[in-house]
Amino acid sequence: MRVRKAVIPAAGLGTRFLPATKATPKEMLPIVDTPTIQYIIKEAVDSGIEDILIITGRTKRAIEDHFDKAYELETELEKSGKTDLLKIAQDISNMANIHYVRQQEAKGLGHAIHCAKSFVGNEPFAVLLGDDIVKSDVPCLKQMIDVYDKYQASILGVQTVSPDDISKYGAVAASEVSERIHKVSGLVEKPKKEEAPSNMAILGRYIITPKIFECIEKTGKGAGGEIQLTDALRLLCDYEDMYAYDFIGRRYDVGSKMGFLEATVEYALSRDDLAGEFMQYLKKIVK
Ligand code: G1P
Repeated sequence: MRVRKAVIPAAGLGTRFLPATKATPKEMLPIVDTPTIQYIIKEAVDSGIEDILIITGRTKRAIEDHFDKAYELETELEKSGKTDLLKIAQDISNMANIHYVRQQEAKGLGHAIHCAKSFVGNEPFAVLLGDDIVKSDVPCLKQMIDVYDKYQASILGVQTVSPDDISKYGAVAASEVSERIHKVSGLVEKPKKEEAPSNMAILGRYIITPKIFECIEKTGKGAGGEIQLTDALRLLCDYEDMYAYDFIGRRYDVGSKMGFLEATVEYALSRDDLAGEFMQYLKKIVK
């Protein structure tokens, strides 16, 4: 079956980015001039996804407004003949069919994904986490969908991280079956460095079969007292084959201050309208 649907959990409080996130969703913080969630939606759309469900919560209304039609703005831009800007505004609301559901309590990523059960139905679906932005020639999710098409099984997007960093992620135990593709035999959410099964970390991209919902229902609280997607995936792995795909691309953790700054600088340097002037500025201040 083809992967047509994607789920983007965006209910988190964003405490790592206070004070900016006190009243503004962290997903709306811009890298250069574009909210982080728009990069994620673009990746999904460029990968062939048709329907997207965003799991939101209280204080996240700006996300819905952003992807909605902005009548007053469009009328003003049209009146003043600013057609370039008008196109930018209109293109956002035409990106995809975007649906919303609210996660009423912050009970963890597994619980958030379970809110997508009726949207997903009986199809494989993609999950993209908003803190992970991937810059690549072929969109990261497209690479993963190609792997899914071949194996027809759940696929986890992974990359190797340093041993000191593995405790921040879901780690997989896996053995290589072909270039960049590993068969998963176990998963641990945020393991201690000494207990990690490998340094292969799940980096915010998943293609999951619908049996995951049954697995989430059987999953109790895990790391941090939350219902973890990683724990439900470990259960899924007992029933079905699962693969980890070492995707090609530069991934930024835009949920951390350093990752956010790195993404800001590197995205600015890849923009034709900014690169020259910005590089000159950087050279001047970095001696
Ligand atoms: C979540 C997942 C974790 C994954 C990470 C990727 O953790 O639970 O398995 O490795 O995203 O960014 P979080 O960063 O929300 O704590």
